[in-house]
Amino acid sequence: MKNASLIRTGSLILAVMLAVSTMTGCGSKPDASQSAAGRAAPAARPSTDVSLAPTPPMGFNTWNRFGCEVDEGLIRETADAMVSTGMLAAGYAYLVIDDCWQVARGAGGRIVADPERFPGGMKALADYVHSKGLRFGLYTDVGPKTCQGRPGSLGFDDIDAATYAEWGVDYVKVDWCNADDLDARVAYTKFRDALRKAGRPIVLSICEWGRNDPWTWAPGVGQLWRTTADIADSWESVVWIINANARLYEAAGPGAWNDPDMLEVGNGGMTFDEYKAHFSLWAIMAAPLMAGNDLRAMSEETTSILLNREVIEVDQDPLGVQGRIVIDRGYGGQVWMKPLADGSRAAAFLNYSGKELELYVRWAQIGIAAGPARVRDLWAHQDLGVHSDLGKHYEQRFKANVPAHGVRMFRIYP
Ligand code: GLA
Repeated sequence: MKNASLIRTGSLILAVMLAVSTMTGCGSKPDASQSAAGRAAPAARPSTDVSLAPTPPMGFNTWNRFGCEVDEGLIRETADAMVSTGMLAAGYAYLVIDDCWQVARGAGGRIVADPERFPGGMKALADYVHSKGLRFGLYTDVGPKTCQGRPGSLGFDDIDAATYAEWGVDYVKVDWCNADDLDARVAYTKFRDALRKAGRPIVLSICEWGRNDPWTWAPGVGQLWRTTADIADSWESVVWIINANARLYEAAGPGAWNDPDMLEVGNGGMTFDEYKAHFSLWAIMAAPLMAGNDLRAMSEETTSILLNREVIEVDQDPLGVQGRIVIDRGYGGQVWMKPLADGSRAAAFLNYSGKELELYVRWAQIGIAAGPARVRDLWAHQDLGVHSDLGKHYEQRFKANVPAHGVRMFRIYP
């Protein structure tokens, strides 16, 4: 812990400068929060919040692939697939239904699930999901209506939280549509308090897109908070999200995670290399890993990404430090570093450019003492042997070729 925090502090100014400088050229959307100033030091986190998400939550969410086309058949089949594909065993534990499951409010203001799409009701569905060893999640909004115009939770926090607890909900994603008149911190804190009153441990996933600088107040309110507008299934989208999320690394830690949005891996809009880069960067940024593809029909390529245990291990490392940029070559090459609990370092060499690049790093730049260190390639699943950077000659740097729109990812053991 001590080493890691020394390294974090020592490299802070450099990394912030690098991260901010990359933002100007990378097409960040204006809706993604832009201000690096005013960031609060990480708040002390109540132990209950830490135990809800000691490492970034992993699971599946319906939205990116299915939108409003959700029903209980899909959820049951997805639960089965999460077990049969090995997703659950790899750590993907939460199965979350996003928008469109709810249609109305009934007696006493109780939320009503769509009776046509969920005829068995949410309690039975949650029971099924639990019977597979998975956890169950739902979606709502702090405003009066969700983004798709379904009933939101404004004025109904307590009854909604109590209903979720009764159904056996373990995770709730709470959106921000129709809510700009509210004070985000107050609204989400109210929702957190309602969940606490309901008496069941439920992860609170704050989804206000980084509009109200949640990294300054959300630790201790929710276990994760979105930092940007919605992801799309394109390389351009992944690039701007990476650069918007990069500079927020100080706010993340056990029980409190920056959320650069759910995964698009396997949805068809990017190349294999681009999806590998997307997944690697989410892992090195200690992002929640919520698969967003059809788990019932995954290609071998998609499986090899989502089930890359060596990369997942980086994401789930118990030290809980969000990795950051340590080198930015300006012409499209970046080196990222995440310190890990066993004293090793994960390093991602990221190439935004349209042609192959040779990238390199010196051990000192990733907090490793001069000398020999063992290098593991996390995508080739190969030991690359011992590399010696004695800190004297530039030629001793560790080099790798990185494909266009691609990544190489290593774990380096001093
Ligand atoms: C917002 C959220 C998305 C998704 C949709 C559902 O856009 O950011 O992740 O939940 O609403 O309508």
